[in-house]
Amino acid sequence: MTINKECVIGAGTMGSGIAGQVANAGHEVLLLDTSLEVCERALERLKKSDPPALFSRSVLDRISIGTIDDLSVVADCDWIVEAIVERLDIKRTLYANLVPHMADHAILSSNTSTIPISLLVEGLDKDIARRFAITHFFNPVRYMRLLELVRGEATDPVVMDVLADYCDRVLGKGVVRCADKPGFLGNRVGVFALQVGIDETTRLGIDIETADALMGRPMGIPKTGVFGLYDLIGLDLMADVVRSLRSILPEGDPFHPVGGENDLINDLCAKGLNGAKGGIGGFYRDGENGAQQALDLASGKNRPRK
Ligand code: NAI
Repeated sequence: MTINKECVIGAGTMGSGIAGQVANAGHEVLLLDTSLEVCERALERLKKSDPPALFSRSVLDRISIGTIDDLSVVADCDWIVEAIVERLDIKRTLYANLVPHMADHAILSSNTSTIPISLLVEGLDKDIARRFAITHFFNPVRYMRLLELVRGEATDPVVMDVLADYCDRVLGKGVVRCADKPGFLGNRVGVFALQVGIDETTRLGIDIETADALMGRPMGIPKTGVFGLYDLIGLDLMADVVRSLRSILPEGDPFHPVGGENDLINDLCAKGLNGAKGGIGGFYRDGENGAQQALDLASGKNRPRK
């Protein structure tokens, strides 16, 4: 079993990054989303990304776009990566529509941040469960070396080896095999840490820039800190990630006290301030020290964009 042609479904932050890295590696890739406009915006983002997601602009020629209205285009793909919103119901609906179009040998994997395979494959044919895995890339895809590879109870070990080899040799990732548990390794620890950071910032009443300065380099984590990382990941996505973990972690898990709904984050999302991907910022704006805007916004004093 070899992977020569790939398809990525979901042209958001991660899907576009994954398609870009596959194209960087010299492979043809299909990028699908709900509309062509979303895909075109993704290609524009790839072109303008900083640091650059692509080796060169010519790499874009290897990415073709399409919509989920015609899933027959996946018929000649060896590997399909799903990178759509972190919602179990939406992912399951997509799989149900997709499976009839997949080649008999094709591998399907999800880029989910939190949802175990046991839940994702519920209701899917045994033969698909045998070819289903989680390939969890990190953001930004080109630069983050880690890739978590998760095997479901039914996943064929040969499928795991094919994916591990491809992600390592072709995509240049450091593959870490993880157990099929909520949040796997990175997010099980990382999202909990982010939530504690947000909780403590609120409890201590300190501003966001100070909080990030403290929770970045001094604590041995990237200088984005907590709020900067929320912007990079996407506030809307993080809200779904937190809800997803809340819904699947057992009662009594230490995540629950810090994983509740956050009014400020919900307010920012409602105003389209989803972070770096939205173009109008999130906690920070235009890469500047504008973190206070979030608090201003909460108190009805959002500063106009420069
Ligand atoms: P995003 O919000 O940037 O993009 C999601 C894309 O999915 C959007 O373009 C949306 O139009 C599309 N979409 C929604 N429903 C769809 C459907 N039924 N069919 C096709 N496309 C559909 O989300 P992002 O951040 O790219 O996340 C995607 C997945 O990757 C999620 O499962 C997330 O948990 C995971 N992930 C996200 C990371 C991050 O830093 N943002 C890091 C690692 C994993």
